[in-house]
Amino acid sequence: MTQHSEPTAEAVLITGGASGIGLTCAQQAAERGARVAIVDIDPAAADRAVSELVGEGHLAFGADVTDAAAMRLAANRFADGGGITGVVAAAGIVSRASLLEIDASEFRRVLDINVVGVQNTISAAGPHLIQAGTLGSVVVLGSAAAFTGGGLMGNGAYATSKAALIGLVRGYARELAPHRVRVNMVAPGATETPMTAVLSDDDRDRIAGMSLLGRLSKPDEIASAIAFLLTPEVGTITGQVIHVNGGVIFG
Ligand SMILES: NC(=O)c1ccc[n+]([C@@H]2O[C@H](COP(=O)([O-])OP(=O)(O)OC[C@H]3O[C@@H](n4cnc5c(N)ncnc54)[C@H](O)[C@@H]3O)[C@@H](O)[C@H]2O)c1
Repeated sequence: MTQHSEPTAEAVLITGGASGIGLTCAQQAAERGARVAIVDIDPAAADRAVSELVGEGHLAFGADVTDAAAMRLAANRFADGGGITGVVAAAGIVSRASLLEIDASEFRRVLDINVVGVQNTISAAGPHLIQAGTLGSVVVLGSAAAFTGGGLMGNGAYATSKAALIGLVRGYARELAPHRVRVNMVAPGATETPMTAVLSDDDRDRIAGMSLLGRLSKPDEIASAIAFLLTPEVGTITGQVIHVNGGVIFG
């Protein structure tokens, strides 16, 4: 790892940044002048996303978040360009198999990508975030499913993985607080992304009807809540879950 002095400019590493919420976070960050690294299992989509970002110094990495060594390599290479101040852990998958019937390998795959992948991500960026001091901020994508047991989108395995992330976020919040780095979760309800594009019109109407606002969230609305948590101005928010779900559930 290259040693560098405390960064003064925003530099955000985003997993799952080639699509949906992660991509919108990347676009918003680039528009406010940040350097961005997109890490995604789909290298072509990551390259395309980075090539369309405004500004300079952005990097694309085709990597699987479950590969700890690949994640460390990506974090170290991105940090060489001026540190890492923020992480958005958005890579994730849903499984719609029932808990009674899901086989162990599928259950483990959901936990591996959605939980171990986030741990790999934060630990890979950790030394650089510590260097970032008060600029250091991590936002993990949770889900309303963690509080409902699934049901809307994804099943109990997905809900289990997102519930586990609450513990992970609080654990990292404790470990990183002495280094002035904050760690929080944004827990969206159903949001208009490729992940929910598979829903039938009936399911979409049913889900929209559960929102007090009568609609799904837009990726920009989730990304704006994430951007809020990334700014050092909200300096004592750490270990928290911020719900963005149209009032489907109250935190
Ligand atoms: N869309 C929703 O309704 C919704 C609701 C609640 C929570 N979330 C959460 O928000 C996050 C983003 O969801 P989205 O809707 O933008 O999904 P999306 O499917 O549009 O994007 C997910 C991205 O993650 C990448 N990815 C998947 N597995 C990966 C792996 N192993 N390594 C690296 N990258 C990987 C995919 O290639 C994709 O680019 C997820 O964690 C999801 O669980 C989404």
